Amino acid sequence: MCGIIGYIGKEEALPVLLKGLTCMEYRGYDSAGLSVGDEQHAFQTVRAVGRVVQLTKRAAEVSLRGHVGIGHTRWATHGGITENNTHPHTSCDGKFILVHNGVIENYAALKEHLKKNGCTFYGDTDTEVLVNLIAWHYRQFSDISTLSKRFKASVRKALSELQGTYGIAVICTDCPNELIGARKSSPLVLGVGKEELFLASDIGAFGGRTKDVVFLSDGEIVHLQGNEFHITGADERALSPTVETVDWDTDVSDLGSYTSYMQKEIFEQPKSLENTMLGRFSADGSSAHLGGLQLSADELRRAERLLLIGCGSAYHACKVGEYLLERYARIPMEVEYASEFRYRNAPLSKNTLIFVVSQSGETRDTLDALHEARRKGLRVSAITNAVGSTVARESDGGVYQRSGSEIGVASTKAFTGQIATFLLLSLYLGRMREMSFSEGCRLVQALKDLPTCVKEVLASCDDWARTTAKKYAKCQSFYFIGRQMLFPIALEGALKLKEVSYIHAEAYPGGELKHGPIALIEPSFPTFVLASDPDMLSKNINNMTEIKARKGQVIALGIEGCPFPKDLCDDVFYLPKVHEAILPIITVLPLQLFAYYAALERGCDVDKPRNLAKAVTVE
Ligand code: AGP
Repeated sequence: MCGIIGYIGKEEALPVLLKGLTCMEYRGYDSAGLSVGDEQHAFQTVRAVGRVVQLTKRAAEVSLRGHVGIGHTRWATHGGITENNTHPHTSCDGKFILVHNGVIENYAALKEHLKKNGCTFYGDTDTEVLVNLIAWHYRQFSDISTLSKRFKASVRKALSELQGTYGIAVICTDCPNELIGARKSSPLVLGVGKEELFLASDIGAFGGRTKDVVFLSDGEIVHLQGNEFHITGADERALSPTVETVDWDTDVSDLGSYTSYMQKEIFEQPKSLENTMLGRFSADGSSAHLGGLQLSADELRRAERLLLIGCGSAYHACKVGEYLLERYARIPMEVEYASEFRYRNAPLSKNTLIFVVSQSGETRDTLDALHEARRKGLRVSAITNAVGSTVARESDGGVYQRSGSEIGVASTKAFTGQIATFLLLSLYLGRMREMSFSEGCRLVQALKDLPTCVKEVLASCDDWARTTAKKYAKCQSFYFIGRQMLFPIALEGALKLKEVSYIHAEAYPGGELKHGPIALIEPSFPTFVLASDPDMLSKNINNMTEIKARKGQVIALGIEGCPFPKDLCDDVFYLPKVHEAILPIITVLPLQLFAYYAALERGCDVDKPRNLAKAVTVE
């Protein structure tokens, strides 16, 4: 894992590959590399530990020429973060060069077999095993009439022996004007440009050069030759693929006046939320419609239970969705981590509707949960941001959250977009079940006011978040507590802080503090108390009193018109009084900014936090 780019076309491949790798930097990685060549120029590989800028420097030292190439950003799974383990990997006979996302589970047995047959290895990756396996089959297939056919047959044979997941792009130096790509449970998209073709794990890697794509399915192999491409299925039959034009911002490199994508994306939320809701309210102003769900009103009314599944921030959005749908649609709810759902084997009635939530639409755990649910005959709807992603294509229908490309590894606008989608779903389902017309109208109005409200809150809490983060940035641990719909917001606040500033943070429902976590409270251990729900005010004040009694510091988020006793909080920010349903969204805003400024204060790279990847495509 993490990002693949391949190019064959009229341009010099090097700048195209470097731009593609730069566009995928947001996915998180720890080393990068590329190979370039063609009929006139021998293939050369450069690799570097660290960022694409280091790779760019390396590439400038060597004269890399050619119109064919592959590149990769690596997030280490097998083997340490070393240059030797960085992709592309070359077979020991020098004939094949390959980049790979995924995990080859039977690599040890294959390696043993290859070693016995004279292969030597320079690194520890499963990918180096794969490239040598292809080379080994190529040697066995010496009787195949053309080099091109022999190349394809060797790749197909090697892939058939793998257990695990892969998205690959591979070069054979005997066929210098060709590339082969293939996928199994790891994304790979073909980009079709003017006199140029691309392979990538992410359409953002096309750097805006084309929006015409073919999403490859599992088991498919694409063979690029000059300007032509041929796709074959798992059964080796030739396919006639449809080239789709994606409605998605494929050039995402522009930061505008912002200093980081995280900052840009936090401040984009008024617009991204507006987009999520655009055209989705009913004409009578009391409900919403979500066409892509492809569920009839009857199917929705018959639903006995909703099960929401996601990972990380998407899971937290599901937890908010649980409270919202329970309250407004009056439907029994359950939320599960995707990684747990897959192995849990819980009994599920046929009238359970499942929603998987994934910004990237490529998260392995979420995809596996989706497959598991479908295997059991359940209908799975998706909430995803990435158009054409695997989750979008493999679910039975769903809703695009339309938050726009999210580049920062820490989710911000996608998280609030997921909550906004759950708000629309609550309205839609609620109005079919028990929600009254006037209650529906009030909620619609609150949602229509949401973008402006978010804009005002961001403008008013920015300075507060900066100053408060400066004051507390040296603390080593934080608690975040909230009740009801604000408990998942506490979870998200803690996750954001951990991800970008590396400060330890934990979150609890307010009532749980006294059941153990309070033992750690002392003057240098601050607690964020999310107290903007007026119904929970007295309970939250109890929490603050308990913390102050132990000399802990309290940073409170309150609600205008309900002031806290001054001696109970060290710092406080008052949010405007809004419809209770949109409280989770406005409460998370100061927490996103706090995490952002705390990270800057500690000198952290907010867009590329250590150890993290934007799309976690391994289990
Ligand atoms: C969020 O800040 C994280 N980087 C992470 O928890 C993320 O939400 C999770 O990996 C799920 O990603 P997805 O929405 O793309 O499936």
